[in-house]
Formats: sequence, structure tokens, C-alpha cells
Amino acid sequence: MSQTQQTAARKTAVVVGALGVIGRYIVERLEAAGDWQVIGLSRRQGKDRPGVRYISVDLLDPAATNKALAGLSEVTHVFYAAFQAAAGAASGYANNIDANRDMLVNSVSAIDLVAPQLQRVVLVTGTKYYGTHLGAFRTPARETDPRHMPPNYYFDQIDWLTAYQQGKRWDWAELRPQTLCGFAPGTPMSIVPVIAVYASICKRLGLPLRFPGIAWNSIYQVTDSAHFANAALWAATDARCANQAYNITNGDYFRWCNLWPRIAEVFEMPWAQPQVISLTAQMADKGPLWQTIVREHGLQPYPYDQVVAWPFGDYVFNSDWDVMSNVTKSRQHGFHDVVDTEEMFVRLLRQFREQKIVP
Ligand SMILES: NC(=O)c1ccc[n+]([C@@H]2O[C@H](COP(=O)([O-])OP(=O)(O)OC[C@H]3O[C@@H](n4cnc5c(N)ncnc54)[C@H](OP(=O)(O)O)[C@@H]3O)[C@@H](O)[C@H]2O)c1
Repeated sequence: MSQTQQTAARKTAVVVGALGVIGRYIVERLEAAGDWQVIGLSRRQGKDRPGVRYISVDLLDPAATNKALAGLSEVTHVFYAAFQAAAGAASGYANNIDANRDMLVNSVSAIDLVAPQLQRVVLVTGTKYYGTHLGAFRTPARETDPRHMPPNYYFDQIDWLTAYQQGKRWDWAELRPQTLCGFAPGTPMSIVPVIAVYASICKRLGLPLRFPGIAWNSIYQVTDSAHFANAALWAATDARCANQAYNITNGDYFRWCNLWPRIAEVFEMPWAQPQVISLTAQMADKGPLWQTIVREHGLQPYPYDQVVAWPFGDYVFNSDWDVMSNVTKSRQHGFHDVVDTEEMFVRLLRQFREQKIVP
């Protein structure tokens, strides 16, 4: 391959929200693929390395965004995974319309302005599209299911992107995952650290591992962050994904009652029948205890509020209805990866222990 062909084949991605529980895994996936230049956007500054550079920018400031992104003329793909939570219960995050719409508008329009080779914008939304945060919904949910009663910022994002894309040289793909499983300090939405820190604190207090919510018997689904990054790469590069939406999960379903004993086994502790508590309320005073655990075990020194977000635990453990997406469409369009969810939890929680995030 000539130098010119190599340059042409190399793709340039902007990952918007590059330090989140989705974005950082997309950055790593593209980096591993070897034929991408990656630019990560967030307010915090990431650590540059060969093939990956970070731009610190507040996407809520349109002028600052235009200025920071003015040099990105080589961009071929955008992966949009920025997010801002709202105060209060995690079930209300979908109501945070203005910030979540404006970050998309400001970043995508700034890139569109300067990047003539832009091919596709991959927008990450989620199963809240179906109202999974509101109560029972039609399951397994299909991409063609009607929307729930707004507000939901996903609707605002999709409506803006699809209207803006009309007549453009690029297209879009929209991915709808459920409950990402990975690690990103400071994220308001990640269930694995909730489980890991909760188990560690229960163990330190001599308590059995009790499931803290009402969803003990409900059917649930999650999405491994690394698996999701594979899906994002597929959605960005497969011609069939142009202007299409896909549910993306591990591809299986589980019940907490079956998984819980395996989690207790990872932490070498007994488990007990559920007792419903508000993690947000009951764990609020456990910061000093966490600091003690960090010291005793020489753990990585993440502040308590960066390592775990209890409102997300309350949201997930109290979704007392079946949460199921149909992933047939993604399979039919070429994405065949699956993850065994019970094995994934065991693997990730063991990694959390090995990496000294928890004891
Ligand atoms: N996490 C889940 O379980 C889950 C499940 C289904 C769907 N989703 C959806 O996936 C999308 C991404 O969520 P996520 O959980 O990956 O979010 P996240 O972990 O909170 O990451 C959000 C990213 O956005 C960046 N960001 C926030 N405000 C910014 C601003 N003003 N300017 C620049 N960057 C900003 C953050 O970095 P800085 O803070 O440094 O700016 C971070 O990199 C959301 O729409 C969410 O609803 C998530």
C-alpha cells in the first residue's frame, strides 16, 4: 500500500465524552484497532499517547467548542457519548434536556463545519428510550416501538441529529444500550462499582451481602462496556448501519436472585435474603469508613464520591419490572458478539479486586 493509500485508509474519530463509562472504552477499542487517530473530548484533560489525544473543552459553551474543534479537519467519524446527570434520583436523568441536547448540537455542528470527510455520527442513547426508567414497558423492546410520553433528552437529541443530517454528506447511527458495566471514575451511572464498594463495606462491617432493592426476581439486562465499544465500531463502519437505530446489550437476560450468590462468592462472604434500603441515604455517611478501607488495603486513592454513585444503584436495584431489549436487528445487520452476563460480573469484580479499586 502506498503512503497516500495508507493515509486515506486511516480514520480519524472524535469521541465526545471520552472519559465516561462508554467513551473511555470506545477510545481504547479504536486505539487497539490500530488504524484510527483518536481525539477525545471532555472537560477533564485525558492523558495523551501515540494515536490518542485529548482536548479539554466545555461543550456547553458554543464559542469555546467552535474554537477548540476548529482544527479537526481530518475527522471521519464521531462517537457521541457525553452526558450530564441531573440532581436527585437517577430515574430523573432523562429529564435533563437542555444540557444533553446542547452538548450534542455544539459538538456535532462544530465538527460538521470543519470536517469535509465526515462519514458517520454514532449517537449513544439507551433503553430509557422505551421508558425503562418510568415503569413496565413492552418487552422485549424493539427499535420500532413508539416513544413514551416526553420529556426524554434522547428524543431531543435524535430529532435534532436526524433533522440536521438532512442533505449532508454523512449519516448517523443510534445505539441503545442498557446499564453499562465498566469503570470510569466520576461517572454517575455505573453498576459494577456500586456492587463492588457495597460488598466491600458490608464485608468490613461483618454483614452478609444483602440485595438492597425490590428487583430481586425481575428479569434484567446489562451491557459490558468493552462489548459496547465493539458494537460502536461496527455501527460506525458497516454500511448497513447508515441512519439506523439498534438495541445493544450483552444479548442475554438474568435475575439478580441467581447472580447474587456468585457475587458473594467473588468477595468470599455470605449472602442473605434481600432487605430494601436506600443506598443513597444509607451509604451517605460511609465516606470515612471507605477511606479507612482504602488505607488498610492500600487501594487506589479514588475519593468516595468518584468511585461510586449510589443513586444509580437505587435505580437499577429497584427496577421491579422486566427490562428486556430485542437485539435481533443488530444481529441481522452484522453484529454477532454476545457476552455471558453472569461470567462478566464475576470477571469484572475480580478485576476490580486485582486492580485494587476494592479490597
Ligand atoms: N452508563 C450507563 O449505564 C448508560 C446506560 C444506557 C445509556 N447510557 C447513555 O450513554 C450516554 C453516555 O453516558 P455515560 O454513562 O457514558 O456518561 P458518563 O460516564 O457520565 O460520561 C460522560 C462524559 O461526558 C463528559 N462531559 C460531561 N459534560 C461535559 C461538558 N460540559 N463538556 C465536555 N464533556 C462533558 C464527561 O467528562 P467531563 O466530566 O470531564 O467533562 C464524560 O467524559 C448517555 O446519554 C447515557 O444516558 C448510559
